[in-house]
Amino acid sequence: MSESITRRGFVGTAGVAVGAASAFAAPAIGKSGAAAPSERKRLGIIGPGSRGNQLLDTFLKEEDVDVVSVADVDDRHAGDTADRIKKIKECERPETMRDYRAMLDRKDIDAVIIATPDHWHALPTIHAVLAGKDVYVEKPVAHNVAEGRAMIEAGKKTGKIIAVGTQQRSSKHFGKAVDIVRSGQLGKVFWVQTWNYENISPVGMGVYPDSLEAPPYVDYDRWLGPAPSRRFNPNRFHLLFRWFSDYAGGMMSDWGVHLNDIVLWALDAKGPNSVYATGGIETTDDDRDTPDTLQVVYEFPTATLTYSMRKGNGYKFNGNGYGILFCGTDGTLMLNREGYEVIPDKIDEPYGIKLVHGPRENRKITLEPSKEKGDDGQKPHVRNFLDCLASRAKPTSDIEIAHRSTNTCHLGNIAYRVGRKLNWDIEAERFKNDPEADALLSREARKGFELPKI
Ligand SMILES: NC(=O)c1ccc[n+]([C@@H]2O[C@H](COP(=O)([O-])OP(=O)(O)OC[C@H]3O[C@@H](n4cnc5c(N)ncnc54)[C@H](O)[C@@H]3O)[C@@H](O)[C@H]2O)c1
Repeated sequence: MSESITRRGFVGTAGVAVGAASAFAAPAIGKSGAAAPSERKRLGIIGPGSRGNQLLDTFLKEEDVDVVSVADVDDRHAGDTADRIKKIKECERPETMRDYRAMLDRKDIDAVIIATPDHWHALPTIHAVLAGKDVYVEKPVAHNVAEGRAMIEAGKKTGKIIAVGTQQRSSKHFGKAVDIVRSGQLGKVFWVQTWNYENISPVGMGVYPDSLEAPPYVDYDRWLGPAPSRRFNPNRFHLLFRWFSDYAGGMMSDWGVHLNDIVLWALDAKGPNSVYATGGIETTDDDRDTPDTLQVVYEFPTATLTYSMRKGNGYKFNGNGYGILFCGTDGTLMLNREGYEVIPDKIDEPYGIKLVHGPRENRKITLEPSKEKGDDGQKPHVRNFLDCLASRAKPTSDIEIAHRSTNTCHLGNIAYRVGRKLNWDIEAERFKNDPEADALLSREARKGFELPKI
């Protein structure tokens, strides 16, 4: 079945399988709803697995939200989610389906939440905006740079909102920390470090044979979608897909995108000028094909960023398993979801070297220490998206912003794969004089799952 779509819709041409309820079931408005019917937002969710259900926990707490349709290629995920929505909202059970295109045909749905694996972000987003829906899509924006760019173009062409699940942008303490970095209080911020450290060696997710059949309650061909065809393996499926380059980008894009996103914000940068990476599968003996050890060095005009990741040693950096460290000549700012801390620096005597010009008067550092607790920003992020549906303002994590953050992860992975320093043309979204690296900015989709022409 071709994924190509027109604005006229899908049903009738696509032969969509619709589950338990009719695609045009009565509105599922819960008894708690206080907002006037005209102000209520009617949503569908595509891909309610682990993250999708976390998102629903936040969306369903908003009084003006009704979730009326659920699409998942796994009937159990769709069914369980529809049951949860019914219970939480005390509403009619939303319809369920395997193929989200029936959802997009409904005229009474304003927007969709997309929480499918990374390789299934671009197609439903583009299909949704072409069908007139606004979109909240999970991070990372897409499986590759070209898909992300196509999503932006589709958003521009249709005037639809595409917000991305980089929720830290909506967290108050992340905003304050960014203000501190930008204010110059830390002095010259010349080096930033982001990191993810844990020890899962050597078993990791283990090893599974490839020969198992997909469960009968799953449309596995549709789960694969644009990715290459292959036998079912539970280790490459729900949740664990993120460690395979056919579907995602490993830890670099799974977590690195949250961290690097804040760095771009603080440095007011669209991306690095160059990237170099080294690493490998060093400590885990499992099925993954993405590195378990990775060091990426990015050069920005004003600072160097290193993303450091290891899964074979859990020693925490500065007491934290993950985070962002902004290093300035007057002090350091440590930042993660738990909060931030400003740590003033002190001027040291140079290591064991006698000063040839006699004693030196050290400059004074006047930066005051400070700290604040924080959170991941999920609730205000969802609220911002919902408010943008009415105001038509650009969301906090607009697709273009999140695309650039996602690109830092694609760049890290591409540099790792080619094994050399790459120079990046930010505006053209291509590498400078490197056709081999350029070839990794996109991939040929499996037949029937190509991106539509925008
Ligand atoms: N913002 C965050 O903090 C955050 C946290 C976790 C995950 N995520 C992102 O959320 C996404 C999903 O991750 P997850 O951990 O929930 O994975 P998951 O495997 O638990 O869930 C994905 C769901 O999508 C369904 N699916 C796959 N293809 C589909 C299709 N074509 N149509 C409909 N449904 C389809 C699967 O059956 C599954 O139910 C990933 O991109 C991940 O990076 C974001």
